[in-house]
Amino acid sequence: MTLQAPKGTFDWLPPRSEVALAVREALTAPVRRAGYGYVETPVFEDTALFVRGVGESTDIVSKEMYTFTDKGGRSLTLRPEGTASVVRAVLQHGLHNGQLPVKLWYSGSQFRYERAQKGRYRHFWQVGAEALGAEDPALDAELIVMAADGYAGLGLTGVRLLLNTLGCRECRPAYRAALQDFLRALDLDEATRQRVEINPLRVLDDKRPEVQAQLAGAPLVVDHLCEACKTYHEEVRALLTASGVIYTDDPRLVRGLDYYTRTTFEFVHGGLGSQSAVGGGGRYDGLSEMLGGPVLPGVGWALGVDRTVLAMEAEGLLDREEAASRVQVYGVPLGEEARRRMFLLITELRRAGLDADMSFGGKGLKGAMKGADRSGAGYAVILGERDLAAGSAQVKDLASGDQTAVPLAEIVETLKERLRK
Ligand code: HAM
Repeated sequence: MTLQAPKGTFDWLPPRSEVALAVREALTAPVRRAGYGYVETPVFEDTALFVRGVGESTDIVSKEMYTFTDKGGRSLTLRPEGTASVVRAVLQHGLHNGQLPVKLWYSGSQFRYERAQKGRYRHFWQVGAEALGAEDPALDAELIVMAADGYAGLGLTGVRLLLNTLGCRECRPAYRAALQDFLRALDLDEATRQRVEINPLRVLDDKRPEVQAQLAGAPLVVDHLCEACKTYHEEVRALLTASGVIYTDDPRLVRGLDYYTRTTFEFVHGGLGSQSAVGGGGRYDGLSEMLGGPVLPGVGWALGVDRTVLAMEAEGLLDREEAASRVQVYGVPLGEEARRRMFLLITELRRAGLDADMSFGGKGLKGAMKGADRSGAGYAVILGERDLAAGSAQVKDLASGDQTAVPLAEIVETLKERLRK
């Protein structure tokens, strides 16, 4: 058997791969318009970055990391997410010493050793945006509005926004204690009991019906917020409403990473089955300090490209033809000499800014014309021995079938002219 891609991974092939590119482009268009700068960080980092940043008790760190020791004996991990890396890069290069907030966006592969299923992969793609150095509800709202606009820009209508706040270092401890008191009185298995002690909020996210049934009366963070967090959250909500972004308050929304404070949110889509989150994010005011940096509040999101494509599929948005990569002109050379001349002509057309391809592999007229049809080109340029001798080529309009002889020296100009119409 030939080798297969590893479990939980897949290949993006044309024409669907074009959709993936278009989705990355469309989801990041709003942040690029808002002055966010592009950042690229390494695909692997010191393992300690994620252990400290994402949190030791999270599923991501405790079960899902691709960790290895390199030949120099360092423990490295393929990044499971982008936020910790971005904060590390900001601190390392002192970007926070300049104009604040530092606004950055990224796009790249992430790796999590998860149970593979539709919409949940071990290698997946996120686009993300982070804003560091300001504690301002307008920044939280700006990011959420931009993500909503990104989905809308793709024509998606079924994306819902769930919004919550997790409080801050002032009010969270009291809430945590109240939640622990409640959870300790429940009938839970040993592993869950341990989780109650380490990360009680995660227990709220337990999907098992026997656990969910017991959680009905669990204390909610909204009832334990300090005045500052309440005011902050009201402002975020008001700005979203004023921007026309519809959201649902979800006081039980729990995120899978430990760094969150205050605003948290998730974008979900009904057409994806159990993996409904197409994007998520929130505020992480303590992350910089967890990584050994100064006080540097931050907020951001990451949107899943793979799941966004699935959502588009569920809404029937991929049936449109422009998904395929198409050229404008297709060269059909007949014979050795014609192939050499056609190669130069196609090169010239491309340098003149036209999308052009040609038939390869010494095909005859019939086979080459089939290639022309499949290429989506508007025009074929056919070059046979007789044309060569006459110093011209046949330019064929593939829609109407009209064919005219054009001197070789005028082909580029002629096609530019015709394609401009
Ligand atoms: P996250 O919720 O872990 O957040 O991931 C964000 C999005 O990535 C998810 O909503 C989902 O669409 C996609 N995703 C996650 N895991 C998988 C997977 N196994 N297969 C396919 N898609 C997946 C973060 O990663 C945070 N760094 C977001 C953030 C940025 N918070 C603040 N700034």
